[in-house]
Amino acid sequence: MAAHLCLKTSPRNIAALRTPLATLTTRGSYAQTPRLQGHTNFTLNTGAKIPAVGFGTFQDANAQEDTVSLALQRGMRLIDTARVYDVEQQVGKGIKKSGIPRDQIFLGTKLWCNDYHPDDVQRAVDDSLRDLDTPYVDLLLMHYPVTFKRGPERFPRDNDGRMIHGDTTYVDTWKAMEKLSATGKVKAIGVSNFSKGEIETLIKECSTVPAVHQMEVHPYLQQKDFNVWLKSKGIHVVQFSPLGNMNDFYRQTGWSKEIAHMKRLIDQPLLQEIGNKYEKTAVQVVLAWGIKSGRSVIPKSVVDWQIEQNIGADFELSQEDLERIGTLDAKARFNDPSLDYEWRLYSDLEGTEGTVRGKTH
Ligand SMILES: NC(=O)c1ccc[n+]([C@@H]2O[C@H](COP(=O)([O-])OP(=O)(O)OC[C@H]3O[C@@H](n4cnc5c(N)ncnc54)[C@H](OP(=O)(O)O)[C@@H]3O)[C@@H](O)[C@H]2O)c1
Repeated sequence: MAAHLCLKTSPRNIAALRTPLATLTTRGSYAQTPRLQGHTNFTLNTGAKIPAVGFGTFQDANAQEDTVSLALQRGMRLIDTARVYDVEQQVGKGIKKSGIPRDQIFLGTKLWCNDYHPDDVQRAVDDSLRDLDTPYVDLLLMHYPVTFKRGPERFPRDNDGRMIHGDTTYVDTWKAMEKLSATGKVKAIGVSNFSKGEIETLIKECSTVPAVHQMEVHPYLQQKDFNVWLKSKGIHVVQFSPLGNMNDFYRQTGWSKEIAHMKRLIDQPLLQEIGNKYEKTAVQVVLAWGIKSGRSVIPKSVVDWQIEQNIGADFELSQEDLERIGTLDAKARFNDPSLDYEWRLYSDLEGTEGTVRGKTH
């Protein structure tokens, strides 16, 4: 995932950030329209509320302070970040800059795989809290189920470039995270990129059912059965990469570049047609589909009108339209670093068939 963490801030994005926000509609044209259309929240198994629409912070580190601030000022209240994104300081500054009180924001971060040894977990979270400049996070996620060798190297590799694993397991890490919840530094704990079997193991061997599973879900990878199962366990799903192959990273990485070149979701005629009916964009339809299905979505953008559009994605979609979007399921998984991490991720889930070295699908 080292390449996965390359940061970019394009001139287009910077220029767009200067666009006068007040005059833009959700479609980017000039007119007077209401800004916020929905404030859907979901309730976690801890009793805490989590907003339906949130803000992702992977990539574009230099822009994150301003865009986090902007997203909060425009009405977003869920911010997703991670230790390994190297943006926690910018996110912390963005929160301060926004002027929105900390207790009105749902802030989540993720523990990275080289900090999974139980003796490292508390120190790693303290590092994140220091950089985020906050006494607590609302959610701490284990980023992947795979444990890397403990130490300062985030991607510890042997002489052949192969990832070196640690000698503890995600169960040991989860037990350390459970203890941390009692300190008040972490309000809820959850996982990301786990298989069903790995979550079952946590439930069987530990005392806390994850509050959240953050995983790849979008119309091209709907994971219908897994979503039903997670719901039955009371685990709330947060969709990462909710816009599927819109993130250029997936078109470039060996993980998924073969398949990520399928039609971008924004260009899907069905989504455009549905959008026209509601006076929404294809992107807004994609996000609304996730929300209406009971999940949170965390689109990332550094472009002001796109952020505004994404906030405007919390609207009603008819059952019929939800079912039509259901037909787009291609079981196309774009985020799959199994080969690099030397760990078969998503082993019992959809979208992993045919994996060969250097080619995910
Ligand atoms: N747990 C994990 O392992 C994991 C993995 C991946 C992502 N995540 C989280 O999920 C977040 C979102 O995922 P992601 O960044 O991969 O992809 P995404 O949010 O699905 O898509 C981002 C791309 O869509 C564009 N975009 C955003 N809103 C748009 C709009 N309204 N119209 C047109 N284009 C729009 C962005 O453009 P610009 O960049 O030009 O603004 C960017 O290129 C991440 O930031 C991160 O917080 C977690």
